[in-house]
Amino acid sequence: MLPGRLPRNPLPCGGTLFAPGASLRLSLEVALTDDVLAVHGGTPLQGQIRVRGAKNLVSKAMVAALLGETPSTLYDVPRIRDVEVVRGLLGLHGVKVSDGVDDGELVMDPTNVESASTDEINVHAGSSRIPILFCGPLLHRLGHAFIPDLGGCHIGPRPIDFHMQALREFGAVVDKTPEGMHLTAPNGLHGTKLELPYPSVGATEQVLLTAVRAEGVTELRNAAIEPEIMDLICVLQKMGAIITVHTDRVIEIQGVKKLHGYKHKPIPDRIEAASWAAAALATRGEIEVLGAQQADMMTFLNVFTNIGGEFEITDARVTRPGVTGVEGGIKFWHPGGELNAVALETDVHPGFMTDWQQPLVVALTQARGLSIMHETVYEQRLGYTEALNQMGATIQVYRDCLGGTPCRFGRRNFKHSAVIAGPSKLHAADLVIPDLRAGFSHLIAALAAEGTSRVYGVDLINRGYEDFENKLSALGAHAEYV
Ligand code: EPU
Repeated sequence: MLPGRLPRNPLPCGGTLFAPGASLRLSLEVALTDDVLAVHGGTPLQGQIRVRGAKNLVSKAMVAALLGETPSTLYDVPRIRDVEVVRGLLGLHGVKVSDGVDDGELVMDPTNVESASTDEINVHAGSSRIPILFCGPLLHRLGHAFIPDLGGCHIGPRPIDFHMQALREFGAVVDKTPEGMHLTAPNGLHGTKLELPYPSVGATEQVLLTAVRAEGVTELRNAAIEPEIMDLICVLQKMGAIITVHTDRVIEIQGVKKLHGYKHKPIPDRIEAASWAAAALATRGEIEVLGAQQADMMTFLNVFTNIGGEFEITDARVTRPGVTGVEGGIKFWHPGGELNAVALETDVHPGFMTDWQQPLVVALTQARGLSIMHETVYEQRLGYTEALNQMGATIQVYRDCLGGTPCRFGRRNFKHSAVIAGPSKLHAADLVIPDLRAGFSHLIAALAAEGTSRVYGVDLINRGYEDFENKLSALGAHAEYV
């Protein structure tokens, strides 16, 4: 394994991933040395892949395990970098984390939670945004917490003011130092009434993970209600928490003294599923995403249909180690002919997810006419369009709120609306991956383009897309590490 990388198939440089004669197409070659993928585009992606538990639920459910007094078990956990980061942090705090016997099973035993040194914790500085969610659970378990500098994708300033404000209202004392944040709760944590200025996913999770064991009742207004939040509430309820979701983004949490462990199968990763759907459209292919769930993707599916893509909810017969039977999924395909331009804006749930935006824009470069993408969740999430323009796309970004509703970024200096003119013939280019979702969209663009692109920094994709190399191979992509 290379430093900082997830284990890859232990193949010799340039060795193929599958033996000749295997049923999947055998074109992805892997060298163990570098982080640059040569992608030979122009082949429609075709085949079947599977998504597992959602990155943006699994990592939070792992933090929740800290709150219990008995072990918790998560199933269907993907092998991605964010999971490794949380696993590392749990381990440092005395939580025994072990892989169970079944594929994707993770058992977390928090019986002997202990303090970790700031130096040890700081090893994880800059690697993910999840550590901020350790505040409440560590305050409950240890009475203090140290949070390293956060990482995550560079898609805007990504402040943590809502988190800090909420924690202070619960009674936490926050001391910011150059090495990170120290938190204490000299008088304990107490339920409170809060209203978020914006329905932030992370801040809602912060409140949930803190309120469940705070003394008294917490009322959170303007809460995020993403499916991953609802699934986290399910996890906490299994642990003994009492949480009521009212209408109009109001969540009420009755604090309890003790929580126990849980067993949970997370919702599937709807961001990964949509990314592969966009890849099917952009490459004029057909991809069946096993595990994808219609209910969490309705907004995406409507847009997919409006663009001209087709999908079918499937029940596929699967045989893989430990599982033989029927598994549901969604098959996405390009039906031939031209795609339609659309006007879209990203939004909090139940709107069109900001994380669906980048892969879909690649597909929109192939649609006839002018499409509009108004990004209203992050102010700087369109930078990747420059790379698409290098490849032959025609995308202009604007500071104005295009396409309808004015958003928070409208009167500020952020280029957060894009107009995509298509269809454009994409050609190969050298691309540097800027962040997770934009990175995957670079990959899709390279697969859709004619010629051989070099994609630098592909390792970043391992943060959130499990085993993407083997999945590309299974879909017939032609690519190799150089
Ligand atoms: N915000 C603030 N102050 C805060 C917190 C958020 O101003 O204290 C703002 C952000 O700057 C942003 C907006 O609120 O403009 C929404 O941010 P949110 O807190 O909802 O995002 P997050 O919790 O940091 C999670 C996902 C993101 C996903 C967003 C929106 C995780 C680990 N990350 O981020 O996923 O885009 O919610 O759904 O759950 C990804 O998976 O690649 C990814 C970036």
